[in-house]
Amino acid sequence: TTARFTLDPAFTVGQVNARIFGSFVEHLGRCVYTGIYEPDHPSADEAGLRTDVLDLVRELGVTAVRYPGGNFVSGYKWEDSVGPVEDRPRRLDLAWHSTETNRFGLSEFIAFLRKLGPEAEPMMAVNLGTRGVAEALELQEYANHPSGTALSDLRVAHGDKEPFGIRLWCLGNEMDGPWQTGHKTAQEYGRLAAETARAMRQADPSVELVACGSSSQAMPTFAAWEATVLQEAYDLVDHISLHAYYEPTDGDVDSFLASAVDMESFIENVVATADHIGAKLKSRKRINLSFDEWNVWYLSKWEEHAKTFEQTDWPEAPRLLEDNYSVTDAVVFGSLLIALLRHADRVTVACLAQLVNVIAPIMTEPGGPAWRQTTFFPFAQASKYGRGEVLDVRVDSPTYETRKYGETDLLHATAVRAADGTVTVFAVNRSRTDTLPLEVALSRLELTTVTEHSALADADPDARNTRAEPERVVPHPVEGTALQDGTLTAVLEPLSWNVIRLA
Ligand code: AHR
Repeated sequence: TTARFTLDPAFTVGQVNARIFGSFVEHLGRCVYTGIYEPDHPSADEAGLRTDVLDLVRELGVTAVRYPGGNFVSGYKWEDSVGPVEDRPRRLDLAWHSTETNRFGLSEFIAFLRKLGPEAEPMMAVNLGTRGVAEALELQEYANHPSGTALSDLRVAHGDKEPFGIRLWCLGNEMDGPWQTGHKTAQEYGRLAAETARAMRQADPSVELVACGSSSQAMPTFAAWEATVLQEAYDLVDHISLHAYYEPTDGDVDSFLASAVDMESFIENVVATADHIGAKLKSRKRINLSFDEWNVWYLSKWEEHAKTFEQTDWPEAPRLLEDNYSVTDAVVFGSLLIALLRHADRVTVACLAQLVNVIAPIMTEPGGPAWRQTTFFPFAQASKYGRGEVLDVRVDSPTYETRKYGETDLLHATAVRAADGTVTVFAVNRSRTDTLPLEVALSRLELTTVTEHSALADADPDARNTRAEPERVVPHPVEGTALQDGTLTAVLEPLSWNVIRLA
């Protein structure tokens, strides 16, 4: 049977905020060292940045970049990471059981973003694990104050005359998680977030602040955490964060393919919780969502690996969390992007965790090449064509049974209308065995042509890109997709991510 939906320009979700195509650079494994930064690499520029990686990050279309963690930020001393490199201390990184050399720091990160282009924007996290209000204010002064104070003049003396202009700030990271250094109860964190926010706004009312929500919807404190934190900080913050990672459990690929069902319910539940607090406080303000960590992550494999850590060993930039993604993973990943776009009215920031080597769309070898994982393609296409207004897509789709989510639509889709009137449909077929015929009725849209139908699918759903075969999986053009008399018809391959562009 056929999956169907109707597109009408009068029925919209909201405008896409460019920040939902954000990513994340953490001092973790080889994300920074031998990832974006490798002074000895043949492609390195004068700043030690790998230009082969810079090119790929530009192609990926990344906007906001969250930094420097993640779990790492809860032990971060920002002052270690600035000034002459030879004077920077080596520190234990408790989060990832590594040694942090601080050879790459705040100034280098800003230089990296400036090289990416005009859409790249820092999303800086402050340490609310081992630190508090005072250190957050110091970092803000160092980074953003033009000059004439101790810390702004120190930045200038360090060679950065221009302030970094960081607008978007995370108030800590995953403070609900017992694994977090300086983990807190909701009440403790809510107060600290509120007071840090109040002080940072005193210094600069234009900052945009993200309070920590839950580390996942499965956390035992989920929703109560958000409610308590927002009760304390509602008027002082702009966003509440969400984090979610997906992997198949017990070989249950069908549920894995439906991961976006969980992601969408998570978003809707956080919206409900935030709006409930807004209602209680009689506030007209709405808190938006920062989905600032999302991805496919084979976390259970990593947890096994973590047990083998030698407690006496604190390596520099070890290989950690270097998942190699399959076609199946990329289809799930594409569906997660669709989930974010479908909630563009409230999800106004999102960060793919992470950018290079660590659960990443881009992989590198030290001294060697850089290449695109399967997940690179859905992200790059969504960032390129997913700009404009999201149209409200209500699918009428054949379904399949999943262990985790019950009866689930085989089709997962959204559509974005660009300022020039062209429309891009993003669609996933979750069936592992069958093609899915698709029919889209175009109501009051002056569209006549299919300019492209591209699909990521493969006879081998386990196919991956590797150093040996870096282009084993790439999107391919699909023939036969037609637009006639206001109806789009297409056939979606089994287990596929599709981009259909209409003009
Ligand atoms: O992205 C990897 C880790 O996942 C981050 O450091 C942490 O915030 C989350 O648990």
